[in-house]
Amino acid sequence: MTSSSFVFPRDFAWGVATAAYQIEGAWNKDGKGESIWDRFTHTPGKIIDGTTGDIACDYYHRYPEDIRMMRDLGIKHYRWSMAWSRVLPEGRGKVNTMGLDYYDRLVDELCAANIESFVTLYHWDLPQALQEIGGWENQDVGKYFADYSAMMVKRLGDRVKFWTTFNEPWVISNLGFRTGEMAPGFRDEKLCLQVIHNLLLAHGRSVQAIRAADSSAKTGIVLLLFPTHPASNAQADRDAAEFSWQKENSWFLDPLFKGHYPEQVWDKYAQLVPSVAAGDMSLICQNLDFLGVNFYFRSVMSADGKIEKIPGADYTDMGWEIHAPALRQLLVRISKDYRLPPIYITENGAAFPDRLESDGTVHDQKRWGYVRDHLLEAFSAIQEGVDLRGYFLWSLMDNFEWAFGESKRFGIVYTDYETLKRYPKDSAAWYARVIRRNGLDSI
Ligand code: FCB
Repeated sequence: MTSSSFVFPRDFAWGVATAAYQIEGAWNKDGKGESIWDRFTHTPGKIIDGTTGDIACDYYHRYPEDIRMMRDLGIKHYRWSMAWSRVLPEGRGKVNTMGLDYYDRLVDELCAANIESFVTLYHWDLPQALQEIGGWENQDVGKYFADYSAMMVKRLGDRVKFWTTFNEPWVISNLGFRTGEMAPGFRDEKLCLQVIHNLLLAHGRSVQAIRAADSSAKTGIVLLLFPTHPASNAQADRDAAEFSWQKENSWFLDPLFKGHYPEQVWDKYAQLVPSVAAGDMSLICQNLDFLGVNFYFRSVMSADGKIEKIPGADYTDMGWEIHAPALRQLLVRISKDYRLPPIYITENGAAFPDRLESDGTVHDQKRWGYVRDHLLEAFSAIQEGVDLRGYFLWSLMDNFEWAFGESKRFGIVYTDYETLKRYPKDSAAWYARVIRRNGLDSI
């Protein structure tokens, strides 16, 4: 292969991704209301290193320098989320104009730097006041979500075209309501499945509200997808892998793109399935302008369950197996199985225990090696006909990694949490070059 083989399609969107709670800080500043993540991190024992997102990267105050930094790296697309409780402290009702003005300034600054925004309306930080009325268990919350979506699109739609309803309903439901590792921290499998249904309904309502507010808006959803591979060629392992695919991925993809839940899983989980009212499935199954795919790792399944350690495999600091070909297989499979709108990889990246050198450098070759390998697979997927339009690296800078606090570093920029200074890592320079070349050098 020649180096020109790795040039991506013209207009391919190269970007980075962040989320409000993970970077903003200023958790109670300028009228912001409390969110379920403020409540969760303030509850002792929930976050492994005891840190909170109270300050995080202090991006709330430092966004102008961060945007300059992005501009200097040549980043032209930026996926970020807004904090619902910053603009509606109670989640509905009274509007906090200081919060709205903040996002207005942020968008202006991004436009001035020639960076296109891909805004996520919900990256996990539900206003605590809505949790008090049942949170995602209460279907009315989906209606408030649609109102909030419309309000933001009306305010920013002249400058923001790409709107994502939810980031990763799988994580919201499974880690927030089944394992309890994340806010709001419940452990109830039946509730988890009802919450998934309610989130999908809220997505449908939000899409309608976004379109009603701005007919030129492009709307989509971001799913965390896990390719599942059998541990061996044995039929029992292959069946287990396929069942897990249906349970973790089809459970979201089928309702969204086919208008029903996958039957095999529905039957097996008959005791736990959600109640579905007439009209729900058509509300969920809206035409979308894009599908965001977050990919980090695959699952290797045997008939007895998930294989935790694969002999000879390499792992990130999260303990996630590094296996880039799974990204291509995933993209190819979903493109065959569904009639999908254009796809964006909305998150991909890796945590490693980076070291800040005394001269301010960080040599994170494992990170850019990870990204390079995944980009090569994304490139092959395009060659195989996948309509992939962009790639957002997670993340711009080290940030508050949810239940792992400040202990896991995903950034291409190092965050010194003592001084809040940022130090671009080697991967930042490497990624800037990828963007400039619209692809990869020959390898
Ligand atoms: C994803 C989340 C993102 C970040 C990465 C590592 O599941 O969307 O906020 O935590 O994982």
